[in-house]
Amino acid sequence: MEVGSWNQKALTSNLQIPFERLVSNMYFPVFRPRRLRAKNSFRQLIRETRLKVTDLIYPVFVCHGKGIREPIQAMPGIYHFSIDTLQEELKIVQAAGIPGIIIFGLPKIKDERGSEAYAPDGIVSRAVRAVKDKFPGLLVITDVCLCAYTSHGHCGIVAEGEILNDPTLELLAKTALSHVKAGADMVAPSDMMDGRVKTIRTQLDHAGFDQVPILAYAVKYTSAYYGPFREAAASTPQFGDRQSYQMDPANAIEALREVHLDLQEGADVVMVKPALAYLDIIRLVKDNFNYPVAAFNVSGEYAMVKAAAQRGWVDESRLIIENLTAMRRAGADFILTYHALEAAQWLSKA
Ligand code: PBG
Ligand code: ZN
Repeated sequence: MEVGSWNQKALTSNLQIPFERLVSNMYFPVFRPRRLRAKNSFRQLIRETRLKVTDLIYPVFVCHGKGIREPIQAMPGIYHFSIDTLQEELKIVQAAGIPGIIIFGLPKIKDERGSEAYAPDGIVSRAVRAVKDKFPGLLVITDVCLCAYTSHGHCGIVAEGEILNDPTLELLAKTALSHVKAGADMVAPSDMMDGRVKTIRTQLDHAGFDQVPILAYAVKYTSAYYGPFREAAASTPQFGDRQSYQMDPANAIEALREVHLDLQEGADVVMVKPALAYLDIIRLVKDNFNYPVAAFNVSGEYAMVKAAAQRGWVDESRLIIENLTAMRRAGADFILTYHALEAAQWLSKA
């Protein structure tokens, strides 16, 4: 399907299989769906969705310093790592068969223009160099945004209380280029400014990196599910909120426009974020564009599961595998998830 020819009909009928092809013309007692549920080997044979360790990308938080492994309060099992301890952790990640990580950085200083985001020796670029040096086979994706680096905590440049779009683009492109120069395999802009994919693509191509793909956070909603992340990245906006750039959770058709634009601007993979409350959006994007789709199983989704599990209210491993499988079933080709490491361990035992 051509980009731009997404069809409105799919909005109302996702399941486009004619009724006669969906059901057998035999009815009970001849037709008994339970027969193929009776044995695990049967169930595996007819399983429609596979969740594999190679579908998972592990998000990591990196800070300056040495020997740091600081727990993040609302995300049990997730830490701030300095580069040395991150490398220790990545031995386990790689041994678990996880194909890649996405790096989030914590800068030394924050300023108006988020300078450390694009400094050649900024925390992310340093981490990328160190990780690619020790783990050349591990995919390293970087989150491209300014909010963790700006004193005001917004994802773009601020003037008179407004978040400016076009002046921000240049800084985002500089950030992406600095990560790629450090050796990043893929860049993931998460800022939701208009036109950033095009600006980044142009900048990377111009610098000779036309082979480095862009994973666009194409459909990123304003969400309370980012709460724990903002604690982890110290990126809570100091005034206002992100509603002037992130999407309204009530909108689905607008999500298709966002995807359309990002693909036209050169995105290689489009992401939907958060995941669980937006499975319908993942399905819409997959059905309408048939491009690679990623889902971000975000910090608040992780925190909810952990909180319930710590109280013994849910069966943790089953719940997590069920959630991740649902994201794949909805149409996500791969998933960025803080559960990656534990899920990888359970999947290898299953
Ligand atoms: C930065 C960014 C955020 C997340 C990924 N990149 C936070 C935000 O937009 O406030 C959220 C990740 C998560 O909650 O796990 N723009
Ligand atoms: Zn941001």
